[in-house]
Amino acid sequence: MDLFEYQARDLFEAYGVPVLAGIIADTPEEAKAAAEKIGGTVVVKAQVKVGGRGKAGGVKVVHNPDEAFTAASAILGLDIKGHVVKRVMVAAGARIAKEYYFSVLLDRANRSYLSLCSVEGGMEIEELAVERPDALAKIEVNPLAGIDLAKATEIAVAGGFDAATAIKVAPVIVKLYDVYVGEDATLVEVNPLVLTEDGHVLALDGKVTLDENADFRHPNHEALEDADAADPLEAKAKANNLNYVKLDGEVGIIGNGAGLVMSTLDVVSYAGERHGGVKPANFLDIGGGASAAVMAAGLDVILGDPQVKSVFVNVFGGITACDAVANGIVGALATLGDTASKPLVVRLDGNKVEEGRAILLAAKNPLVTLADTMDEGADKAAELASK
Ligand SMILES: Nc1ncnc2c1ncn2[C@@H]1O[C@H](COP(=O)(O)OP(=O)(O)O)[C@@H](O)[C@H]1O
Ligand SMILES: [Mg+2]
Repeated sequence: MDLFEYQARDLFEAYGVPVLAGIIADTPEEAKAAAEKIGGTVVVKAQVKVGGRGKAGGVKVVHNPDEAFTAASAILGLDIKGHVVKRVMVAAGARIAKEYYFSVLLDRANRSYLSLCSVEGGMEIEELAVERPDALAKIEVNPLAGIDLAKATEIAVAGGFDAATAIKVAPVIVKLYDVYVGEDATLVEVNPLVLTEDGHVLALDGKVTLDENADFRHPNHEALEDADAADPLEAKAKANNLNYVKLDGEVGIIGNGAGLVMSTLDVVSYAGERHGGVKPANFLDIGGGASAAVMAAGLDVILGDPQVKSVFVNVFGGITACDAVANGIVGALATLGDTASKPLVVRLDGNKVEEGRAILLAAKNPLVTLADTMDEGADKAAELASK
């Protein structure tokens, strides 16, 4: 999950990273009030989860509350690379002497962490990375050792800092690393990290990506989610602990086990080519315990997608045997009643397949068609979706 700048700023502050005052505002009036509260020169900053706000006119330096009102009026509603600004942050203005760049991120390819650092930070960092990659130091960070003051100094010196400035910057780097580890982030980026005219180091911008797999040990992260942006079906699935990803097609998919569901998506895509180009509508892995309740929750999410025309249930019975899955389907259809109005193709295999099929046949639900194989089921579901 990517955070907004103001959320990153708050986390930085909590970890002792030097930041400036910032107040969020949803209207020009609130921005004006925020500017009054902070006083002096302030910066009105678009809060969107995309870089390059400065270049897009989403960051404006103003000198009094009336100007903050005007700037906020211009920025709110602005479309920055497809992200419409709904909120701004009014931040205290810094008197900048130098702009630097620092980040630490998860380096999946090398199964390690990587830190990037440069004395030439600011809005041209992308160009710098392409045109003069040597000016952007890339230092591996051993996750077991982390970043202590000595490592932070090594990173700063590699990034081009002179010794005197490296001494000022290194403690800030250590604190940013504390944020990275303490919050289970996969990215903490500060651009610009600045040196002010009076010699202080400050984080003026912040980009943080949190690892959602670690949400269980961060109950406070839930509050950081952007409810506005969440897909309603994905939100519903999440509330039911289902692994669901909305896709663009017409054939709803339910399976058990991520691998089986992935292959089901492929097989349905192929089959779809024979039936007017229909495609899978979602990824949904109901996991091991495919009880009636889980099946009902899954079907409920999928049937709630207006794009879905048919559903393919592809289950391989293992520890949860096919008879339990079949009872789950029958129970789910009974629970959903009239909301279940789309045809269902069911392919069962594995543990207790005969019993499972017998249960579905005995239930005689007109919506349900049984398929013997995965290919046959995919073809049937695609055909039903194309009608
Ligand atoms: N609080 C601030 N005080 C003064 N200048 C700022 C402040 N915040 C940002 N800036 C200036 O605006 C530029 C762009 O802002 P930034 O927050 O980095 O947005 P983005 O990276 O999306 O363009 C910065 O490089 C800096 O020069
Ligand atoms: Mg920036």
